[in-house]
Amino acid sequence: MRSSPNYHHPYTFVFVVILFPALAVSYKTLSATESLTISSNETIVSHNETFELGFFTPGSSSRWYLGIWYKKIPTRTYVWVANRDNPLSHPNGSLKISSDNNLVIYDHSSNTPVWSTNLTVGTLRSPLVAELLDNGNFVLRHSNNNEYLWQSFDFPTDTLLPDMKLGWDKKTGLDRVLRSLP
Ligand SMILES: *[C@@H]1O[C@H](CO)[C@@H](O)[C@H](O)[C@H]1NC(C)=O
Ligand SMILES: *[C@@H]1O[C@H](CO)[C@@H](O)[C@H](O)[C@H]1NC(C)=O
Ligand SMILES: *[C@@H]1O[C@H](CO)[C@@H](O)[C@H](O)[C@H]1NC(C)=O
Ligand SMILES: *[C@@H]1O[C@H](CO)[C@@H](O)[C@H](O)[C@H]1NC(C)=O
Repeated sequence: MRSSPNYHHPYTFVFVVILFPALAVSYKTLSATESLTISSNETIVSHNETFELGFFTPGSSSRWYLGIWYKKIPTRTYVWVANRDNPLSHPNGSLKISSDNNLVIYDHSSNTPVWSTNLTVGTLRSPLVAELLDNGNFVLRHSNNNEYLWQSFDFPTDTLLPDMKLGWDKKTGLDRVLRSLP
């Protein structure tokens, strides 16, 4: 009987390819039963893998933000930040869809929300999902259609992506202005 591993076995290659991406979980969509926790390095990646959303800490700071960056550019470039006014002071938190249908960042050490989409949503017929679109727009939508309840493009930080529109939106009453990153 052979005791040394057979590296030429055809399944060796398949094994490596399947195992590698499992080191860090990345979601395509985040459902109401899932959460993105800082400690497990989970992210949401757009369908064509241009953009990635997750928690980050700028430079040597110990403040944690939720943001969107270009997945394939080695120098991290943030195009959007959620909790820029209210970072977490330790890597103990998560992003999830709350029971009242908002996207919420929770600080687990104090068990309080530090950021919320602050929507007033009535009873829903279908559950919500959060998705990062290929154009870099992070949206909260119904799982069974493309109707957005909230989108990050309505709250730009300091980067204008091609599909974003600035200025007063007569339909939603939002005044979209650029704000600097932390
Ligand atoms: C998350 O990433 C950091 C830095 O790359 C690493 O040190 C840590 O082990 C990772 N944690 C998990 C659970 O993969
Ligand atoms: C987060 O904080 C809570 C409450 O203080 C604590 O029980 C938990 O162990 C912490 N988790 C991590 C990953 O630090
Ligand atoms: C949500 O509402 C709280 C309380 O009014 C406010 O402090 C916070 O800035 C709001 N969040 C966003 C993202 O606007
Ligand atoms: C991903 O989609 C965006 C928006 O449609 C497009 O600009 C970009 O070129 C695409 N990237 C890849 C790698 O397909």
